[in-house]
Amino acid sequence: MSYNLLRGKKGIIFGVLNEMSIAWKVAEKCLEEGADIVLTNTELSIRMGNVKEFAQKNNILLIPADATNCDDLERLFQEAMQHFGGKVDFILHSVAMSLNVRKKRPYDDLDYDFMHKTLDISAISFHKVLQVAKKLDAINEWGSVVALSYVAAQRTMFEYNEMADAKAMLESIARSFGYIYGREKKIRVNTISQSPTVTTAGSGIKGFDSLIDFAERMSPLGNANAEECANYCITLFSDLTRKVTMQNLFHDGGFSSMGMSFRAMHQYNKSFENEKEE
Ligand SMILES: NC(=O)c1ccc[n+]([C@@H]2O[C@H](COP(=O)([O-])OP(=O)(O)OC[C@H]3O[C@@H](n4cnc5c(N)ncnc54)[C@H](O)[C@@H]3O)[C@@H](O)[C@H]2O)c1
Repeated sequence: MSYNLLRGKKGIIFGVLNEMSIAWKVAEKCLEEGADIVLTNTELSIRMGNVKEFAQKNNILLIPADATNCDDLERLFQEAMQHFGGKVDFILHSVAMSLNVRKKRPYDDLDYDFMHKTLDISAISFHKVLQVAKKLDAINEWGSVVALSYVAAQRTMFEYNEMADAKAMLESIARSFGYIYGREKKIRVNTISQSPTVTTAGSGIKGFDSLIDFAERMSPLGNANAEECANYCITLFSDLTRKVTMQNLFHDGGFSSMGMSFRAMHQYNKSFENEKEE
């Protein structure tokens, strides 16, 4: 059902790789809610995934850009503004990658070149997007910028590895830049801390299925899926949340406020019983 929440608004969506991507669902919802959007991803991801098909099917401009490269970002904003005939109203940063996770390097044996790259892609790129946008004055007053985070920024999650550090930095950038952008241009900057979600990036985490199951049992409302995350993003892009800024907003079915749940305890008791029987 559409509420026309984004009618007349223009936005840039980073991070559509394939139909599992959270950004894919956000892009779909943006269209449903009446927005005009431009999509962007790296040349490699455009070749590997199917964002091109999505763009063609919906007649959307797709501009290749590496989010760690400020020249690419400058070109992206300029082309997007030219296409829209003006500034943008919202941006989704849905970008992450961990080289140490990919190469199976544990947290106490990290390769630091990989780590620099991880932080650049998954956190500093958010600063670059904001800084380039601000220098080009590319976002309208009361615009909204959202990045996607995970609770490992606050609490240690087994096997989340260096991405925890990247997410902590990402959330900090939302606060630090949010202050400046809010004060000078009335632009909001927030992060959404999403439940574990089955996507290409998510599935790269070791033991991801168990993590999803655990989070599901711990969350009174159950895990939030990608489509639900997209709905939440839409509210943050809309005019209904104009005074929300510099926040890390948990979208996790209640997981982040839980200590132990009945369903998790039940599961734990079952394995405890099995252990006694063995
Ligand atoms: N899947 C989960 O469990 C989960 C949970 C919480 C938060 N998140 C976050 O959601 C966001 C989207 O991830 P997803 O799960 O949809 O996976 P995904 O793999 O579909 O999306 C990650 C995207 O990052 C893009 N990317 C990587 N390097 C880039 C670069 N240099 N420049 C531009 N784009 C680049 C990829 O091409 C891809 O489109 C990420 O920030 C992720 O950490 C995911």
